[in-house]
Amino acid sequence: MKFLALSSLLLSAVVGVVADSGIATFNNYDAQGGVACPGFPSSNNQGNGIYAAALGDLSPLWTGPKCAGSINGSNCNGSGGCINCTGPSCSGEGQCGNCFSITCAGSADGETSGSCSGQSVKVKVVDACPSSHPENYCKLSQFGGNVPANQCCEAAGVNAFDIATSAQSILSSYKYNININIQAVSC
Ligand SMILES: *[C@@H]1O[C@H](CO)[C@@H](O)[C@H](O)[C@H]1NC(C)=O
Ligand SMILES: *[C@@H]1O[C@H](CO)[C@@H](O)[C@H](O)[C@H]1NC(C)=O
Ligand SMILES: *[C@@H]1O[C@H](CO)[C@@H](O)[C@H](O)[C@H]1NC(C)=O
Repeated sequence: MKFLALSSLLLSAVVGVVADSGIATFNNYDAQGGVACPGFPSSNNQGNGIYAAALGDLSPLWTGPKCAGSINGSNCNGSGGCINCTGPSCSGEGQCGNCFSITCAGSADGETSGSCSGQSVKVKVVDACPSSHPENYCKLSQFGGNVPANQCCEAAGVNAFDIATSAQSILSSYKYNININIQAVSC
């Protein structure tokens, strides 16, 4: 008992506390042409080995006002895509410019081949992943899509990080989305 208590105390002092968990999807910022956070380039590489990321506005880690807009199924094409794909504005995103250390915690959808690398990457929040964006909500099954809500920034209470594609193979050898551990770090 005593030994256990002491060793877990030591362990948490050495390892630090894993702050949060969530899900990572992947996006090519080099091809996107703009990000929600003012003053940051739309590029996978944010300098000093730091990768770009967008934070979902339903994430517990989100601070500041949520993105504008609302869900309107008539903007969806009925098979996962959108017709009117106009995105909402996201001003005042509180995590803009903040960095997080991300590690893989497993496949998000039960892939049986592949594994986590054990390596972490540092990401900087330069964009938003709005739950009110048709390119996100039209993927839900209720609008004819087939993407789980927690893999398109549509799940309340789930930390959703849309991370630069160039970081994907560093985190794991899974082909698709992954569960992640998230820790706030300095940039
Ligand atoms: C929903 O989207 C349709 C098509 O884009 C648009 O015509 C309509 O005004 C929207 N409805 C609301 C309530 O915003
Ligand atoms: C809906 O949009 C998706 C994604 O853009 C596209 O792949 C699909 O072919 C579209 N479906 C229809 C019926 O237009
Ligand atoms: C596109 O969607 C936006 C937001 O729902 C709406 O304000 C606008 O009227 C729509 N445009 C068209 C052409 O349907």
